[in-house]
Formats: sequence, structure tokens, C-alpha cells
Amino acid sequence: MIRSVITGTGSALPAKCVTNADLAARVDTSDEWIVERTGIRQRYIADDSETTSTLATAAARNALEAAGVDAQEIGLIVLATATPDHTFPATATQVQAALGCGGGVAFDVQAVCSGFLYALATADSLLRTGMATKALVIGSETFSRILDWDDRTTCVLFGDGAGAVVLEAQDVAADGPGILASRLHADGQHKDMLYVDGGPSTTGTVGKLRMKGREVFRHAVVNLASVLKEVLEESGTSAADIDWVVPHQANARILDATARKLDLPAEKVVVTVDRHANTSAASVPLALDTAMRDGRIKPGDLVMFEAMGGGFTWGASLARM
Ligand code: UT7
Repeated sequence: MIRSVITGTGSALPAKCVTNADLAARVDTSDEWIVERTGIRQRYIADDSETTSTLATAAARNALEAAGVDAQEIGLIVLATATPDHTFPATATQVQAALGCGGGVAFDVQAVCSGFLYALATADSLLRTGMATKALVIGSETFSRILDWDDRTTCVLFGDGAGAVVLEAQDVAADGPGILASRLHADGQHKDMLYVDGGPSTTGTVGKLRMKGREVFRHAVVNLASVLKEVLEESGTSAADIDWVVPHQANARILDATARKLDLPAEKVVVTVDRHANTSAASVPLALDTAMRDGRIKPGDLVMFEAMGGGFTWGASLARM
């Protein structure tokens, strides 16, 4: 059977690391509050020379190298971001040009923190229909550009970065590698709980991120537990079969609460929120690349990806590596 197989991962972070203590020097917050409420200890913040496309290109190069794939072989780039370099063209096309890809399809997906899950499921569908045989799926963000640095309830939570995977259509055995099941959801009724107060068609400005954190938290735990159950059911697997969960890294307490709801041991959950904070669409592929490169995730492992974000949007995918 034809499945989309993850054959390489990569990531990129801005050079500048900002600790909680650095933030406490400019807004009314403390390392103690941030660590206790979120698990975040530091985040990386892009300087003027680092953009969503430059981070995405660096992460993609890393992933191509890990997969042993040449940029010329890539026929599809799906890039998830809510912070594109420009309103248009799509950041994916800028990455395509920077990598020197020969041609093919390139477009952006906008599902905020669930963006990578949306991009992965979209690329998986296109590969299985024969649109391309090798794809890059990228999550890249520079949320620092849309943060209100005077709002302590949001500015301490986010960071910048990018992660990428090479996805290849391969003819595999039933117990072989590849994406086994994906489920995506959206519920537009909750827009006001997490949104950006600007945009080209409304204010004509980029705007700043606004969030009712407590409400988002409550919805996140319920929605994530529910979509994880759906993917387990669809793939005929149980929580006990899962080797690793690579979740969206918004808050260590959300990760704990979701794992508890599914009886998943905490040691099977890849946690990078302490180092990267919430990097929106980049957080899942950044965490995946971290756990691939430190040797935790190995070939043959069953890995669950999950995310929830603005919209609301949420989703999960199960893959054998
Ligand atoms: O990636 C997209 C999805 N996003 C999320 O999943 C985020 C979900 N939400 C969360 O992670 C949490 O709700 C937060 C981390 C955002 C907030 O944690 P919380 O435990 O829900 O805190 P809270 O909003 O209930 O605020 C508690 C107190 C408030 O003070 P009062 O009203 O009790 O006096 C806040 O003003 O903490 C105060 N506070 C802060 N204090 C110091 C809020 N932000 C800060 C801060 N430093 N940075």
C-alpha cells in the first residue's frame, strides 16, 4: 500500500535566547510564575535578519539532509504559518526559491498552532493521490512580531522557530512505516478566545495576539483528548501501543492533563516547551526533530502528533517511523 513516510526531520531556531529573567526585567512577571503556570524557562526570538521564511528554509535544509533527498526532488511544499513574511506570496514559495527546488506545488496553510497537523494531513492526502512523490512539510513562525510586549498574559508564552519533515510516498507493508491515520477539526465559534486584532482586510495592520488563556486551556484539554481517541479508534491502536506522543507545546500543564486523560505515561510525552515556549505551527516538528536527533524516537516507533490552536482548530496524526 502507498503511505506517506517521514524520512527526515529538521529544525531551526533564532540565535537569540531570552530567559524568563530577561522578560521579568521588562514586564511585570517572574521566572517563578512562568515556570509554575507553563513550564517555560526560555524562548528564542528572531532578530530583524531572521524571518519565517529564513527559519523555514534552514529547517527544510536540515530535513533534506537527514532524509538524503535533494531539493530538486521535492514536488510539494506545504508550509504552516500564521506569521508569513508577507501577506502574499505564500512563504512556501519563498522557501521553494531559496532551496532551489525545480518546480512543483508550494502553498501555505493557516491553522495557527494546529497548522503543522493540517499541513501534514494535506500533504499526506496529496502524496497518496500521486500529486507528488516527495514533499516538505514545514511549520515556521515568528510570533514575536505579533506579540503585545506590554501584555504579560501573552508575551511570556511564545517563541520563534521552525521545524520540517520530508514526507515520501512509499509502497510499504501493512505493518511498515508511514502516516496511519489523521483527524482534523475546526470550530469557528470561539474566535474571540484566541485571535490577532488586525489583518489586511480589517484594520490594514498586522495586529497583536489576544488570548483568553484560561478558556483556551479548558477547550484544549477536552478537544485534544477527544481527537486522540478518534485517531486511536480509526487506526485500531490503543494508548498502550504508543511509543511517543509529540504534542503542540503550549503549556506543560496541558500536556500533563491530556496524557492523564488517556492514561499515557508522562515519560512517553516529548516536552520541549521549557526550551522553546509556544512556537505555534513550528512546535510539533521542532519537538519531533529534537527527539529524533537525541535518539529517543527510533525507526519503527509509533508516534502520535497532536495540536490545538486559534480558530479553534485541532487535530492529531498517528505515524509509524
Ligand atoms: O497555542 C495555542 C493554545 N494556547 C494555549 O493552549 C494556552 C492555554 N492557556 C494557558 O496556558 C494558561 O491559561 C496561561 C498560561 C495562559 C495562564 O495560566 P492560568 O493558570 O490560566 O492563569 P490565569 O490566566 O488564570 O491568571 C492567574 C493570575 C492572574 O492574576 P489574578 O487575576 O489572579 O490576580 C493574572 O493576572 O496570574 C496573573 N498573570 C501573571 N502573573 C505574572 C497572568 N500572566 C502573568 C504573568 N506573570 N506573565
